[in-house]
Amino acid sequence: MTSCLKESMVFRVIFITFFFCLLVAPSIAELQRFKHNQKANRPLNFLVIGDWGRKGTYNQTLVAKQMGILGEKQDIDFVINVGDNFYEDGLTGVDDPAFYESFVNIYTAPSLQKTWYSVLGNHDYRGVVEAQLSPILREKDSRWVCLRSFILNAGIVEFFFVDTTPFKDDYFDDPEDHTYDWNGVIPREAYLSNLLKDVDSALAQSDATWKIVVGHHTIKTAGHHGNTVELEEQLLPILKANNVDAYINGHDHCLEHIVDSESGIHYLTSGGGSKAWRGDIKPWKPEELKLYYDGQGFMSVQITKNKADIVFYDVFGKVLHTSSIPKDLNPAA
Ligand SMILES: *[C@@H]1O[C@H](CO)[C@@H](O)[C@H](O)[C@H]1NC(C)=O
Repeated sequence: MTSCLKESMVFRVIFITFFFCLLVAPSIAELQRFKHNQKANRPLNFLVIGDWGRKGTYNQTLVAKQMGILGEKQDIDFVINVGDNFYEDGLTGVDDPAFYESFVNIYTAPSLQKTWYSVLGNHDYRGVVEAQLSPILREKDSRWVCLRSFILNAGIVEFFFVDTTPFKDDYFDDPEDHTYDWNGVIPREAYLSNLLKDVDSALAQSDATWKIVVGHHTIKTAGHHGNTVELEEQLLPILKANNVDAYINGHDHCLEHIVDSESGIHYLTSGGGSKAWRGDIKPWKPEELKLYYDGQGFMSVQITKNKADIVFYDVFGKVLHTSSIPKDLNPAA
């Protein structure tokens, strides 16, 4: 009888511990992971678009149309969306009609009915962030997958999506211009240090042939906003230490390709989803700046284990720039 009681006590403790762990796990959990099953014997194909949600204006519909044409030609696997999804101030809630006016009713081509792996931009943080992250949007349109930070495993390629807006000091120090929805971000220091730790360990654990990091803000750019110094100081060392192949971003409303001659990292900006033509470009080493196009358009990427082919297109589908990045599978010791 007593031994039976003891046993049930032990079980109870185990149960309670187990459920307690389940409860606290989310706060210490690593980044959420998604898996894309790459079709055998064909490259991974995807498009990249950023800075787009303007209800079709500023050539958004022209870009959408060309994405649809190319998406069909390449039979794309998915779309990567680098943020600033809804201008000017994100979504007001899950019922904001902008979700239809700027997304559902714009990217209508059959080839674009694939998952859109999405991050948030600074403009999205000016609205209700939880709305964009809500599964209710996914019920309205199953393509929509938007998280702050997450990992996408696509076989030979692994993508690390990073929430870059909370890194920018301006948005916290000088918030008078705009209001930002920092629910879920503050306390900021803990948020950023956990995020950096998670990205670092996920990159270190990855055995993918290609490692690509995706964020909204620039790290290296000759464009309007310039380099994001907070990311250069805090995120870039992690990318270098883990031999990341490329960093893909938006924020500057242009199409741009910079190859850092020192680290070999490719900086790919695809922020031409709608309003563009700012006309300002800062000086950059010509041997590193492979493309700077100040107008609208998007990027396509095709990756095999041996190479990544990158192409930038304008609003007429005209090729602006191509680049083939070889993968040295046996780097010299
Ligand atoms: C639309 O694209 C064309 C061609 O690039 C460009 O000349 C025009 O200025 C763009 N319109 C807007 C509103 O950006």
